[in-house]
Parts: sequence; structure tokens; C-alpha cells
Amino acid sequence: MSGDSPDRAGAAPDLRGLEAAARATRERFGADAHVVCDGLVRIYRAEQVEVVALQGLDLLVGRGELMALVGASGSGKSTLLNILAGLDVPTAGVARVADQDLLSLDAASRLRYRREVVGFVWQQAARNLLPYLTAAENVALPLLVSGRGRRARTQRVDELLELVGVADCRDRRPAELSGGEQQRVSVALAVANDPQVLLADEPTGELDSVTAHEVMAALRTVNIELGTTVVVVTHDPLVSESVDRTVAIRDGRTASEVVRRTERDADGSARVVAEEYAVLDRVGRLQLPHDFTRRLRMRQRVRLELEPDHIGVWPDRPAGGGDPEGDE
Ligand SMILES: Nc1ncnc2c1ncn2[C@@H]1O[C@H](COP(=O)(O)OP(=O)(O)OP(=O)(O)O)[C@@H](O)[C@H]1O
Ligand SMILES: [Mg+2]
Repeated sequence: MSGDSPDRAGAAPDLRGLEAAARATRERFGADAHVVCDGLVRIYRAEQVEVVALQGLDLLVGRGELMALVGASGSGKSTLLNILAGLDVPTAGVARVADQDLLSLDAASRLRYRREVVGFVWQQAARNLLPYLTAAENVALPLLVSGRGRRARTQRVDELLELVGVADCRDRRPAELSGGEQQRVSVALAVANDPQVLLADEPTGELDSVTAHEVMAALRTVNIELGTTVVVVTHDPLVSESVDRTVAIRDGRTASEVVRRTERDADGSARVVAEEYAVLDRVGRLQLPHDFTRRLRMRQRVRLELEPDHIGVWPDRPAGGGDPEGDE
């Protein structure tokens, strides 16, 4: 803000300073991330009933990351993905994808955003593919819409079908493909126009675990070979284990995340180490896992103590403890 010269009329300058500081913090939040959600709120209003599907959700996804979103049914995963896909508009907060502010896109830019910047894979293959077109014709469709010539289209379609491992399915219609093949064709279609971000809402939800694994492998290949940032919603623990980072959503907020990295033992063998983190939001809130608080019978308030390298959290009990059953 340029007008930060002191206004001597009273309390106003302080408020302006605070506002500017808050705006600067918001602008800095996730400045280098590819997907930024900051305090995202989505309220559905239907016949006098209000559902708060997202209540101040924060999420950062790095460029080129492959990550999963998990959470109970109704926790807000699809709501979030629809917003990131440009299909729905949040009630409040910040949603930015590839430097595009999703709250301020006009109709034309929103259409361009959906065609060029993001790709989407739905759970039901029938929503991704047209039944009367072959796999190759389906994948060619977005290329046709964006005006690519026939030769370029054929070449791109063949490359993509090969990339996701279904080159042999090119001339078959969806009904002649297995569920896993259909979803791999859907992945090829979703990245046809080389979007920066690929969003997938339970793409393996209707598949058995072997087939689900093949679809995940296709998403990983796209992530590595094309450099696409991939966000996949899943209920399947096997799927979430095959990505680098899993963020759990609870009640419309990000609650915890698991980060996986590969470590080499002394003998050179690789093993995957998974570490669980609670998410600390910008105002300092974090959710303690239910099973931790239940086991230590923590409720309403806890005692905090700052140590040199950590923060201790204790149940609110009288010093000396006493009978754990008797302190209800
Ligand atoms: N169009 C809508 N109108 C009203 N409420 C909605 C609408 N869409 C979603 N909701 C509500 O918003 C909340 C979040 O729904 P959402 O579909 O995002 O959950 P989800 O995490 O994707 O669940 P699931 O795992 O079952 O797909 C739910 O309470 C749901 O009932
Ligand atoms: Mg959903």
C-alpha cells in the first residue's frame, strides 16, 4: 500500500498499518507454491439450510508435486477439487492456481483456465469419456477444441496413450475397455492440452487394488514425464501410500499430513520412511489427533510449556496427577 504516511487524525493509521501488514502476509503466503488455498470457505445454501463445506482451509502444493487428499465422506474434498478445477467459486478466502486468482476470473478467463491450466479426472469413467468415440478420438477431442492440426493431434494422442500404457486400446470404445484402461485413457485426455495441474477425484474409487495401482502409476508417470503437478483425492490407503505427501482434511480444514521419503540403509537398500505432521495454520491453530487426546483424556483445555526445542502439551490435571479415573 502506497499511502502509509501517518494520518494524524487518531486511530485510523494503526488500522491501516495492520491491514497492510495482513495483506502483505496473505500475499507472501505460498508465494512460490503452485496451488495456494488460504482460509478457503465454501458455504452451500439450500432451502434455508447452510452447509459449511470448507471452513478456512489452508493448503500449499509445490510445483511438480504428486500429492493425495484424504478424509472422511463429507469432509470437503470434492468441494475443494471443484474450486481448484474452476467449476465452483469459494464463498471467501484465497484460491490461486498457477498464479491465477480463482475468485476474480471473468467468464472468458475461467473457460480458458479450465481448458488450458487444469485437467480433471472424475471417479466415473463415463463422466470422462464419450461412449461413442474410441480412446484415441476421446483424447483428441480437447486438442481439436484448442485448434491443433490433424497430424499434431494424431502424434500427441499416440504419445499420450503410450505414456499411460494403453497404446493397444487406441481404437476401442470405452465399453470395450476395462475400468482401469478407461481411467488411464481419462488421464491421457485430461493432460492432452498439457495443463500445469492435474486434479483427480477418486479416480480409483471403482477399481480393485491391482487396477487402482495401474491408474496411480499412470498419474505418477504423467507427474514425472510431463512435470504436471498432481492432486488426487482418495479413500484408498494404498493409493495414498504411493504418493510423496498425503494431506488429511477434517471438517473442511486441513488437519494433518504424512510426508514420505526414501532412505538408504548402510547396506544400500532403500526403505520408505513416513512421518506424520499436524498442520499448523497461520494463526497458530493445530488439531491434536483424536486418538492422542482420548488416550490422555485431554479435553477443553491443555497445559502448554515452551521448552528449548519443543512445546510440551499436558492434560489439565492437578499437579501430582492422582487417580486418572477420578479427575473427570
Ligand atoms: N451442491 C451442494 N449443496 C449443498 N451441500 C453440498 C453440496 N455439495 C456438497 N455439499 C455438502 O458439503 C459437504 C462436503 O461435501 P463434499 O462432497 O466436498 O465431501 P467429500 O469429502 O468429497 O465426500 P465423499 O468422500 O463422500 O465424496 C457435505 O456435507 C455435503 O453434504
Ligand atoms: Mg467427494
